[in-house]
Amino acid sequence: TGGSKGGRGALVVLEGLDRSGKTSQCARLLSFLKGKGYNAEGWSFPDRATSVGQMISSYLANDSQLDDRTIHLLFSANRWEKRALMESKLLSGTTLIVDRYSYSGVAFSAAKGLDIEWCKAPENGLIAPDLVIYLDVQPEKAAERGGYGDERYEKIEFQKKVAEHYHSLCDSTWKVVDGFLPMETVEERLRDLATSCIQDCQGNPLTNLAW
Ligand code: TMP
Repeated sequence: TGGSKGGRGALVVLEGLDRSGKTSQCARLLSFLKGKGYNAEGWSFPDRATSVGQMISSYLANDSQLDDRTIHLLFSANRWEKRALMESKLLSGTTLIVDRYSYSGVAFSAAKGLDIEWCKAPENGLIAPDLVIYLDVQPEKAAERGGYGDERYEKIEFQKKVAEHYHSLCDSTWKVVDGFLPMETVEERLRDLATSCIQDCQGNPLTNLAW
């Protein structure tokens, strides 16, 4: 079936608040695609494996303090350091299912009060997703799901602000899926969205984010 025969891979991004179910849905979608014979990989940002990623990880765990703009640029640098690999994977036919991307970068930093245009600037030139799936959950209900952990941003008031900024970023590449539908329903919806995106993007060249 749908393996990419000479075509390029699709860049599919999942976004949502903390506890929106994104990470498990990414895993489910990835195993579905692989099972169908698609050439696909799962990525996530922050990529904590790099040295920039380790700085981010220690910041998120409250083990280190960084100025708001500094951490913003580190999150962005963490995407930039993966850009070349991302491009070569996509061009060689690998579809990437990515858990968080530039939209998280902008929504979380803007929620701290940073100017949104300033937040968008360093994202320009990264590869533009073919599809952004936003798993929509109300912050209060998300918090009830097994509760938040100890990471820095896992607080209801903060997540509400993040949600407002996410909504302002929504454009034509976004598909909003209700994250409180039954897990299987969400999964089904994501499968449909991703498989049509993989087919539809074939004729389109890769483009860059231009905010
Ligand atoms: P994670 O839980 O998906 O690994 O993400 C860690 C946290 O980092 C999460 O609260 C969202 C936040 N974040 C940003 O603030 N900026 C970014 O650019 C990214 C990718 C995540």
